[in-house]
Amino acid sequence: MLLGAQWGDEGKGKATDLLGGSVDYVVRYQGGNNAGHTVVVGDQKYALHLLPSGILSPTCVPVIGNGVVVDPSVLLSELSGLNERGVDTSKLLISGNAHIITPYNVTVDKVTERFLGKRKIGTTGRGIGPTYADKINRVGIRVQDLYDESILTQKVEAALDVKNQILSKLYNRRAIGVDQVVEELLGYAAQIEPYVADTVLVLNQALEDDKVVLFEGGQGTLLDIDHGTYPFVTSSNPTAGGACTGAGVGPTKISRVIGILKAYTTRVGAGPFPTELFDADGEALRRIGGERGVTTGRDRRCGWFDAVIARYATRVNGLTDFFLTKLDVLTGWEQIPVCVAYEIDGKRVEELPYSQTDFHHAKPVYENLPGWSEDITKAKSFADLPKNAQNYVKALEEMSGAPISAIGVGPGRDETIEINSFL
Ligand code: IMP
Repeated sequence: MLLGAQWGDEGKGKATDLLGGSVDYVVRYQGGNNAGHTVVVGDQKYALHLLPSGILSPTCVPVIGNGVVVDPSVLLSELSGLNERGVDTSKLLISGNAHIITPYNVTVDKVTERFLGKRKIGTTGRGIGPTYADKINRVGIRVQDLYDESILTQKVEAALDVKNQILSKLYNRRAIGVDQVVEELLGYAAQIEPYVADTVLVLNQALEDDKVVLFEGGQGTLLDIDHGTYPFVTSSNPTAGGACTGAGVGPTKISRVIGILKAYTTRVGAGPFPTELFDADGEALRRIGGERGVTTGRDRRCGWFDAVIARYATRVNGLTDFFLTKLDVLTGWEQIPVCVAYEIDGKRVEELPYSQTDFHHAKPVYENLPGWSEDITKAKSFADLPKNAQNYVKALEEMSGAPISAIGVGPGRDETIEINSFL
């Protein structure tokens, strides 16, 4: 399993792609088109939002699990975009139990954020939160509902009953018509049908047959609805446990849990971020690291590496390994500060506080590590790295509590140092 160890955007697409050739199934288990993976294959760059990155590998079966929320219009346009570029997408499987992001959920996401004003979450505006809310409220629409018009109509009616009251009375918006939504959703049904499958059965049979199944988390640990910086989080469980519920695979079946860890820290949207930089260093990380969201085009907030967060990610996910990404971005700094602990109301704290108030008050305690100026993008092994880069990696590994098994030294597919195999 691969998942983000920070606030998302750690470079998961590259990590998944590295394993591409040896993996039989790549499974998304949560989130929706709020994710954004950039995968570079040769001189081609692909930006994926909803589809698993395994879609680019000809030998791999990409799977959208039951825990994912699917916007059908986004799904179909992402598929046709890939088809136009010659990518074969016919192997894709979509769980019939995955929930549909309906047009009214996108509307509710946007108006809610506007209504929250300065307390807004900074969501991607893709309807993710309202769709999961409907799921938990038991008024969600699932992929399988597209194939029973009567059931679909009843369910849309039930969902809109309350929503239209809220939209018209609270938000002063026009009510949404049931027929118009049903018609739009039915319009997608035939095109999606060939992909719909009992993915739980398929995946468990694949595991029994000793196939390699890769679970790919969207977002990151600190955006988890249970373990992240609530309420500034996404509405699903990107952490390791989410793969079991979101794909229907038992925890005993998962052998490796790999945390993707950026060599510094970024965050999109609102919420606390202790090591955030507001100076020229932050600007430089953003520029050199190309820190702009694949999905939203928003500039990412940037800061130094935070070892407290990395340790937390190791713990809540039971990480077995780290994939350290974007080490090359740090080339050129004389000293690189790393946050080793927090100071909260005058006290040194080594672990992530569970209290939201404490986390908002946390100030980073930095240790400066010596930097390097040599180009590292051509390094093929750990020994090829300059001594100070080696020491930076070793220090991060020691502080974070799990071995760093691969290091990204550039955006290209081959710009990766493999230390231990992930398979
Ligand atoms: P939502 O997932 O659209 O509801 O947004 C909730 C929070 O998660 C916001 O702060 C978003 O910026 C953040 N978020 C959602 N998806 C991603 C992602 O793929 N990378 C980074 N942040 C994300």
